[in-house]
Amino acid sequence: MNILSPSILSADCARLGEQIHLTEEAGAKYLHIDIMDGAFVPSLSYGLCVVESLRKATNLFFDVHLMVVNPIRYVEHFAEAGADLLTVHLEACEDVAATLDAIHANGMKTGLALKPQTAINELEPYLDKTDMILVMAVNPGFGGQKYIENTTERIREARLLVEKSGLPIDIEVDGGINGKNVRSVMEAGANVIVSGSAIFNGDITENTRTLMKVLEEEEILLSKQEKK
Ligand code: DX5
Ligand code: ZN
Repeated sequence: MNILSPSILSADCARLGEQIHLTEEAGAKYLHIDIMDGAFVPSLSYGLCVVESLRKATNLFFDVHLMVVNPIRYVEHFAEAGADLLTVHLEACEDVAATLDAIHANGMKTGLALKPQTAINELEPYLDKTDMILVMAVNPGFGGQKYIENTTERIREARLLVEKSGLPIDIEVDGGINGKNVRSVMEAGANVIVSGSAIFNGDITENTRTLMKVLEEEEILLSKQEKK
């Protein structure tokens, strides 16, 4: 299933609840929440209390992207705050398998993210513990960056790996996604689409609808191909 996950990094923090509802009304099912620690990435974003407050404001599925060193330390706290899926960076974990196990043990889905420079096959040992692979299309840390072109090829590689495994793993793409390139990342194999600046800069309802339309069209195309 194709899912849009608006990234609130580019939203107006003083109007978060209101802006999130606009994306929900326009068809988004996930909410992408970027947590940055100023160590794994240069910038800082927001922390647990924002997740906690948003949990009271919406029933959207919370897709939390941890850009944090040694994220196992925070797994329990994010579960309590209301995260539904916790994505950690392979490069940031001291013990990747133990971190993914801890996320599952706390009742959440697992995501495993890769920076643009990390080889896709590094995911292989962890596929049976991973519900979603996150292929970064920019260097993590900031919204509004330009999509790195070889990401499309990396998504294809990740899709092949998933197909080979036979496991029902989602593939998420994050960074620089907009109305112009969203179709090509989906055709390469991504089915969870993060978009920040292309949704929150400008008319949020219209921007969300534009992306949702492509997601729905691609979903129909795929089901026709599967029937053949
Ligand atoms: C970058 C974050 C992204 C970012 C996406 O480190 O992980 O989620 O907010 O924003 P855009 O869509 O503007 O690249
Ligand atoms: Zn993100």
